[in-house]
Parts: sequence; C-alpha cells; structure tokens
Amino acid sequence: YTKYYRVDPVCPDAAMLAEAAALLRQGELVAFPTETVYGLGANGLDAAAVKRIFQAKGRPADNPLILHIADADKLAELAAAVPASARALVECYWPGPLTVVVERQGHVPDAVTGGLNTVAVRLPSSPVARELIRLAGIPVAAPSANTSGRPSPTTAQDVLADLEGKIAAVIDAGPCDIGVESTVIDCTTPVPTLLRPGGITYEMLIAVLGDIEVDPALDGAKTVPKSPGMKYTHYAPAAPLTLIEAEPVRSAGLLIGEINKALTAGKTVGAIVSAELADSVPPAVMTAVYGSRADAAAVAANLYTVLRSFDDKAVDVIYAEGIAEQGLGLAVMNRLRKAAGYRILR
Ligand code: TXA
Ligand code: MG
Repeated sequence: YTKYYRVDPVCPDAAMLAEAAALLRQGELVAFPTETVYGLGANGLDAAAVKRIFQAKGRPADNPLILHIADADKLAELAAAVPASARALVECYWPGPLTVVVERQGHVPDAVTGGLNTVAVRLPSSPVARELIRLAGIPVAAPSANTSGRPSPTTAQDVLADLEGKIAAVIDAGPCDIGVESTVIDCTTPVPTLLRPGGITYEMLIAVLGDIEVDPALDGAKTVPKSPGMKYTHYAPAAPLTLIEAEPVRSAGLLIGEINKALTAGKTVGAIVSAELADSVPPAVMTAVYGSRADAAAVAANLYTVLRSFDDKAVDVIYAEGIAEQGLGLAVMNRLRKAAGYRILR
C-alpha cells in the first residue's frame, strides 16, 4: 500500500510533508516532485534504505544516485573538495536543475556512489522538494521514480503506474515544470565534463565556465549510429522507436516515407511529431504531438508524457521527429536517441 499526499506545488501542506519526511528518516521510500521529474527518495546516508531504491526500480547497482540537499552549504559536508568550477556553477544555477559531480567524503555510502570515489549533488528549486528535504534533515538520494528503462515520471500518476505498492508514499504536486532530468556535470576533471544534458543548457554552462568537455559517450552515441542495442535503450516506450534526425523539410519527407512503408507492410504505426508536422501524418497513424519544434522547452515538458502515451496502445513501431539541439533541444535529442536505442535515420 502506497500512501498518497496531494499538496500545493507552491505552498505545500507542512503537516503532510512532515509525515513524508518522517518516513524518509525511518528508511522508507517516498516519491516526490522536483522541477525536473519525480524522484524516488530515500535517506542518502542509510545504505539499507538506498538499496531499497535499487530493488523498487530494478536498477543496476553500479548506476550511482544523486544526493539532494536543501541548502547549498551542505555540499561541503558531502564533498571532499569543492572545485572552483563547481562553486561557480552552483552559485549561478542552484537551486535548479543542475547536478555537480565532486569527490566524495568517506561517510557517503558506496550504495549511493556505486563504489565510485565521487558523488553527485543537486539542490532542487521545487518548493515541495526543498521543504521535504529540509524537514527530513538528511541528504535525500533520489533517482527518477520510474521502473528502470522506462520514461521518467513527470506526474504522480506516472509514478504510481510503475511503483504503486512498492514504495511507502508519493507526494503529488501536479506536473513537473521542466520535464527532463537535471544536467549532470563532472567537476573533478581539469575541464568540467558534461555527462548528461538537462535543464541547465549547454549554453548556460558555457556562459559560466567558458569551456566544457562533452562526455565522448554522448558524442559517440550521436555520431555513430549503433545497431538496436538493448544495452543502450532508456526512456523507452514498449514498441520499438526510430528517430528521424534531419533539417525540418527533409525530416518531414523521411518520416512520412518511413510511415507509409510501415503501413504498406501491414504494421500498426505510432508517430511522435511536432505541431508543424501533425497534419501531414496519415490518418491511420496513432499520433502524439509534443508541441512546436520551435519551442524546445515545451517539447521537453511534454516529452515523457508523449512517450508514455504509447504504453496502452497496440502499435508495432513508432517513428519520432527530432528537433534542433539548441537550448533544451540538446537534452530532448539525447533522451530521444536513447529511447530509440540509437535506431536513427538521417
Ligand atoms: O533531475 C534529476 O536529476 C532527477 C531528479 C529526481 O532530481 N534525478 C535523476 O536521477 O535523474 P537518475 O538516477 O535517474 O540519474 C542520475 C544520473 C545517472 O545518469 C547517473 O549515472 C549519474 O547521474 N550519476 C550519479 N552519480 C554519479 C557519479 N558519482 N559520477 C557520474 N555520474 C553520476
Ligand atoms: Mg533516471
């Protein structure tokens, strides 16, 4: 049985949050909203509680977790050293969708870091998340509150669809503002390294740091289309997804061409497209629209809901239209490439 708390996203009920915070302190799992996606929280200093997160999600134990704090001063209690790059970034972008990877202190459990000598730390801007963490009085370890491999949850209903009965409670504050996860940047390298594009954009990182490296794993995945590798599939809907990456005009032709081929082959087809392309999709196709391709923030906010919308639809294949990589578009394309397992047409 999973307790359900409905709170206001700006002025959450203090008594409900206090109850949820007490559950966290007792070692229980509590899902809670952040400005990015819903997180699955546990006491980040209690290895047994953290291990429950991995069980509930079916997550591989070597994939480390982010520790969430409510006050920037707490970073120094988790980090063995705070490099100048991390200091500059958190001054600009905390509270917010930014996670910094720093050297860890000895008391941070291996269960959190996957045995690494570093720890990922984030101070969310969501008032509900911050008040919950503050009341709990501990760093809260929290991955996205989905079953491993599924699209991240942006509503409490998404959380319950994956985890109902497996967690002590969920706090519902309505849909998340940003809709894709935080930016993860490794500040332990001489030039900070972008590990995951997210809510704080590449452009915003460059504005503070001047220069950053991009994890070759991100770049490689982008330039070298891989065969449908299950190993890389993330954020994925149930049916196989193919991503179309091209300039808007060419992409329309490619997408409609592929859809028609699949329809001719007798397949039931789904499409994930921009508002600009929606009317060009044949009527037989189950179409989900993510918004205007000119508004990457809107696309980000809708992305996981659109991916999850195919859960209860019996489609054989899905085709998705890519968008430009400016601003939040970089994070959107990173998630779409992973959801496609790198089945990409250009
Ligand atoms: O927006 C978010 O970051 C959400 C909300 C709940 O805060 N959380 C989230 O957590 O997306 P998760 O576990 O789904 O993603 C954490 C990412 C993973 O890609 C993980 O590999 C990476 O951060 N990570 C965590 N600790 C790390 C470390 N010490 N070194 C490198 N990467 C790390
Ligand atoms: Mg996740």
